[in-house]
Amino acid sequence: MKVLVATEKPFAPVAVDGIRKVVEDVGYELELLEKYTSKQELLSAVATADGLIIRSDVVDAEVLDAAKQLKVVVRAGAGYDNVDLASATAHKVVVENTPGQNSNAVAELVFGMAVMAVRNAYNGTSGTELKGKRLGLQAYGQVGRNVARIAKGFGMEVSAFDPYCPDEVMTNDGVKPVHSIDDLYSGNDVVSIHIPATPETRKSIGYYFITNMPLKGVLINTARKEVVDEDGLAKALRERPDIKYMADVKPDNAEALKEEFGDRVFFTPKKMGAQTSEANINAGIAAARQVVDYLRDGINKYQVNK
Ligand code: 3PG
Repeated sequence: MKVLVATEKPFAPVAVDGIRKVVEDVGYELELLEKYTSKQELLSAVATADGLIIRSDVVDAEVLDAAKQLKVVVRAGAGYDNVDLASATAHKVVVENTPGQNSNAVAELVFGMAVMAVRNAYNGTSGTELKGKRLGLQAYGQVGRNVARIAKGFGMEVSAFDPYCPDEVMTNDGVKPVHSIDDLYSGNDVVSIHIPATPETRKSIGYYFITNMPLKGVLINTARKEVVDEDGLAKALRERPDIKYMADVKPDNAEALKEEFGDRVFFTPKKMGAQTSEANINAGIAAARQVVDYLRDGINKYQVNK
């Protein structure tokens, strides 16, 4: 059996060592395709793979057509909007993710961005503190829960909107449940987005919610760029010079936004939320174990295309 790790944005070497050990310990072969720059490289490499480990790498119908022996794809991470699930199902390929494995890394970056925003991008002027401020989480999944945990250390008041999460899960964590997105945006000084990119959430955050934020509101997006309506965001930032937008997912119009709004916006050059050794080790090794578990024993606990 051959397992291909195809990562345009590579894992830390220590994580690759761990993946290799898991795969080779059961007698399987590991192939590494890192930093590839053309889809053709992926199409060629995937042709002989039985299992595939990816990050944000796109696995579409063309890749699945080329992957004649493929049985399982594990996205080492949370969001699987980069995989064509319907096509995978049609090709009888199991798709899995590794929920929770990189969520602390993303949550810590939220605070890196929050501090940067309230300290005016460290430009020497007087900023504000996070202590005593209200933090609203849009979704209370694995990342949202880690953000809530860290927020307590900062002394923030935390609330969350998540129609899929029972109120008592939040209240048990000392988080106030909020029952409308309107209330989440209008009632919090900092809002942090943790929703997946789906047809329903695409462009769902825009002018209306952003301009409803209180004075000096900070919006942080470490989820997916697709969930924000970029034109609405630009219009809101234009009308509300007190608002800031920080994102780990560079918008398509990043350069124009940076030029117009300067330090009120910040974008990482590449998605960096999960880019830590720890997250790479956790998600990468979990992915390797899941690939082996499926290929060897048919275990599909984390399958997302059931
Ligand atoms: C995820 O969905 O797990 C994160 O967005 C991380 O993506 P990455 O593996 O491409 O950094």
